[in-house]
Amino acid sequence: MDQYRVFGNPIAQSKSPFIHQQFALQSKQTMNYQSQWVALDQFDNAVKELIGNNGKGANVTAPFKEQAFALCHELSERAKLAGAVNTLIFSNGIIYGDTTDGVGLVSDLLKHQVQLRDSKVLLLGAGGAAKGVVQSILEQSPQSLTIANRTLSKAQAITSQYPNEAIDAVTFAETHNLAFDIIINATSAGLSGDSLPISDHTIKSSTVCYDMVYGKEPTAFLKQAKQLGVEHIIDGLGMLVGQAAASFHLWRAVSPAVEPVLVSLRAQLK
Ligand code: ATR
Repeated sequence: MDQYRVFGNPIAQSKSPFIHQQFALQSKQTMNYQSQWVALDQFDNAVKELIGNNGKGANVTAPFKEQAFALCHELSERAKLAGAVNTLIFSNGIIYGDTTDGVGLVSDLLKHQVQLRDSKVLLLGAGGAAKGVVQSILEQSPQSLTIANRTLSKAQAITSQYPNEAIDAVTFAETHNLAFDIIINATSAGLSGDSLPISDHTIKSSTVCYDMVYGKEPTAFLKQAKQLGVEHIIDGLGMLVGQAAASFHLWRAVSPAVEPVLVSLRAQLK
């Protein structure tokens, strides 16, 4: 049977096996998808072992996305720009790498009737999660994309990759007097429960507030948005299922239905 894995450390919390098993059931694909904990220095060996055991593909999560990028023989354009991959495809001895996080984000926004086209977008953070979605956001032709990060140089390093785009890098303080249609939190602050140094002035009630992090409770950023009367608040669960659907399509050439899986996951979170 065709074998797939999600590699990570830690990995016990991963919802990917559930998601892909549901996709496989829905679309009657004969495949086996499991999570695999990998020691920090064993990533390359884990991939080789999977390939030797009828592996057809894998997802990669923290902290291996850059190592996976380095291991690939071929990369998609968006993976090259992100410098990281979350999806591996094994075919005829070639390891092909792609990143589907951006597609997952954009498809989830569109599902919520949020158009990036002609919008002023603020992306918070300049780590791996932010890098992975910039190209996909720009492909939607926003009016502008502003990246705010605590460490400004990291945001500038991203914007310098896109010299011909309406993209700029700022500090959090510089966002105070700016207005945005959509704010996307790609910092890891939500994971540690930290709040962000984003001013209440920057968040209008009409601003769409999106956090890539999801959980039982809303993140500090989404709580702040709610307190300010924001109507359109979205967490990252839909993006998680969306990126999985895009990976599944790369492997199996089938587009699974996202909604029923999302409903089950939402129920599990409660
Ligand atoms: P990930 O893969 O989740 O993106 P990362 O590459 O370590 O993880 O990046 C974490 C991001 O969250 C960075 O943009 C980081 O800001 P710095 O580049 O200044 O470190 C941001 N971040 C994490 N905790 C934060 C906090 N409490 N306030 C503001 N930004 C935070």
